[in-house]
Amino acid sequence: MAAEQPKVSLTGIKPTGEPHLGNYIGAIRPSLELTETYESIYFIADYHALTSIRDGAELARYTRSVAATWITLGLDPAKTIFYRQSDVPEIFELSWVLSCVTAKGLMNRAHAYKAARDRNVENGVKDLDAGINMGLFNYPVLMAVDILIMNTDVVPVGLDQSQHVEYTADIAGTFNHLYGGDFTLTVPTGIYPAGVSAKSLPGTDGRKMSKSYRNTIALFAPEKQLRKLVRGIVSDSTPVDEPKDPDTSAAFALYENFAAAEAVKDMRARLEAGGTGWGELKNTLFETLNDWLSPLRERYDALVAPGSELDAILADGAERARERARPVLAGVRHAVGITTG
Ligand code: ADP
Ligand code: TRP
Repeated sequence: MAAEQPKVSLTGIKPTGEPHLGNYIGAIRPSLELTETYESIYFIADYHALTSIRDGAELARYTRSVAATWITLGLDPAKTIFYRQSDVPEIFELSWVLSCVTAKGLMNRAHAYKAARDRNVENGVKDLDAGINMGLFNYPVLMAVDILIMNTDVVPVGLDQSQHVEYTADIAGTFNHLYGGDFTLTVPTGIYPAGVSAKSLPGTDGRKMSKSYRNTIALFAPEKQLRKLVRGIVSDSTPVDEPKDPDTSAAFALYENFAAAEAVKDMRARLEAGGTGWGELKNTLFETLNDWLSPLRERYDALVAPGSELDAILADGAERARERARPVLAGVRHAVGITTG
């Protein structure tokens, strides 16, 4: 019997800011681990970011920075198909077809759209759709296409994306029901983080690290800035000599995620005993992060520079992605009657 084909894992990364430590723990590291067991397809969802980014130079910069970050942190483009969504025009053609089999009511119930309307309610804006563009409304269809056009089996994402994955399965099911014969779309399932990576990493103000809170520590911030950000993490005013509860500290939560188990144990004991201040914890945290990131910074800086080898990597990824997308799009075109014979 032939060996079973490895299952396909696909995920998209929205380039809406400089990648930060939270993205590393919650998305980059777990996705890179999956490349060991799955055939992996990872892409930069640049057209998705267009629903919110209005500055072209900014979109271009974040796209490059996200791509350079993933490669620097270990994505192997020979093993993983890695591309920009916008380089695969098949996605946008399929997007129209699948929007024609998607119920509008499904989109009305989408969390991101509902949240945008709720904000209008809170702000007393009468027109609940004010400020909402069609890109935001259609977002779940485009995401379904990203997934379905690659014949994806599993989608590793944060829990906040579970509705999108369920919608994708729903849309594939409708298509298969309407048109399924010899050709069907693969119905995917989500893979969600468990254990440590399920917990959000706190940012410099103690809330979840997130671009929207402006409390992030960018992975490839220059050393001086990294030190400043780490030194600026909130801490209470317990005097150095007094015992401290490490589990109330954002700096300790970060340390737990990035230092070796023995070092974490030792730091916990020292904080609990008293005599070690939050300042010392932050200095040690900075050293730990910097020891890990400084050797990588050079590689990142080279990749992110205009005209670097990143262009060829992404062009090659786009070619391979299109090779996978073409037969799926052809199958759909045939099924719906656009192509005959
Ligand atoms: P942000 O909240 O900064 O806008 P995104 O929503 O773009 O981040 O998240 C991209 C990925 O990174 C998602 O898979 C998300 O689950 C993960 N992620 C983001 N912030 C954190 C965090 N603080 N802790 C763990 N994972 C996170
Ligand atoms: N919506 C995802 C996010 O906001 C990004 C994304 C776009 C994606 N297309 C995808 C994720 C396809 C997984 C699969 O993070």
